[in-house]
Amino acid sequence: MQIVHTLAELRSALTGRGRPAFVPTMGNLHPGHLSLVERARELGEICVASIFVNRLQFLPHEDFDSYPRTWEADCQKLRDAGCHILFAPREQDLYPEPQTYRIQPDPALADILEGEFRPGFFTGVCTVVMKLFSAVFATTGGGVAVFGKKDYQQLMVVRRMVQQFALPVEVVAVDTARAEDGLALSSRNGYLSEAQRQQAMALSLVLQELARAARSGSVPLAELEARAMHELAAKGWEPDYLSVRQRHDLCPPADAQALTEAPLVALGAARLGSTRLIDNLEF
Ligand code: PAF
Repeated sequence: MQIVHTLAELRSALTGRGRPAFVPTMGNLHPGHLSLVERARELGEICVASIFVNRLQFLPHEDFDSYPRTWEADCQKLRDAGCHILFAPREQDLYPEPQTYRIQPDPALADILEGEFRPGFFTGVCTVVMKLFSAVFATTGGGVAVFGKKDYQQLMVVRRMVQQFALPVEVVAVDTARAEDGLALSSRNGYLSEAQRQQAMALSLVLQELARAARSGSVPLAELEARAMHELAAKGWEPDYLSVRQRHDLCPPADAQALTEAPLVALGAARLGSTRLIDNLEF
């Protein structure tokens, strides 16, 4: 695996290597990330992963400084997974001058759910993803980018950005990797204490129950969502939201028929101690 840091090195490493399939990450890799790499290897002629902890997508009180950085282990995992190129820009490589231009995603999609509780998060994500796409795809005439469904809203925001800017990138989604008890794999799971880890699957269980009850259509959705919030809070969590949305636009189901028939997704974010986890379930 070739490791490169600058845009120029990356572009030179990509020259003549065919269509890239790209997996952007912030490192601290777990089997969920590696499943994205595996998919990328199937989809592209050359598999590129990036590791960059993007300051722009963290709020001042969030965990940018303490975000787990596990460089040696990450490199080994990517090598073992058959990644061809690791792009690991330093801050000055990606943002050589203060990044004063930003990509402002559609507020209808980006200011709800995660965006409501992490204002500016998707602006930070879009700005870095646009820059990473420019790094990987500008000289290759496009390619594939692989994202996990665990960050469901991020996937949708990026998809819409690609569509709106007519970027030559095919965005491919991969299902969430889960631990045996159902907990969605996440770098932030490492913050959980042993006792918290035992309770952490409650988030996915509550979402499953919310999805099941919502589909039956017999109780108003707002009531079910409030009940789910209450249930999670009773287990010691502090939920930000638990909500059922239409898959195509993340708006609440348009009517009773949409609730019982349309492709929907139940999304949730909640804090267990100081660790904030997200999860979702399509149904
Ligand atoms: O999902 C992530 O790890 C990050 O949001 C991403 C897409 C790498 C952008 O920093």
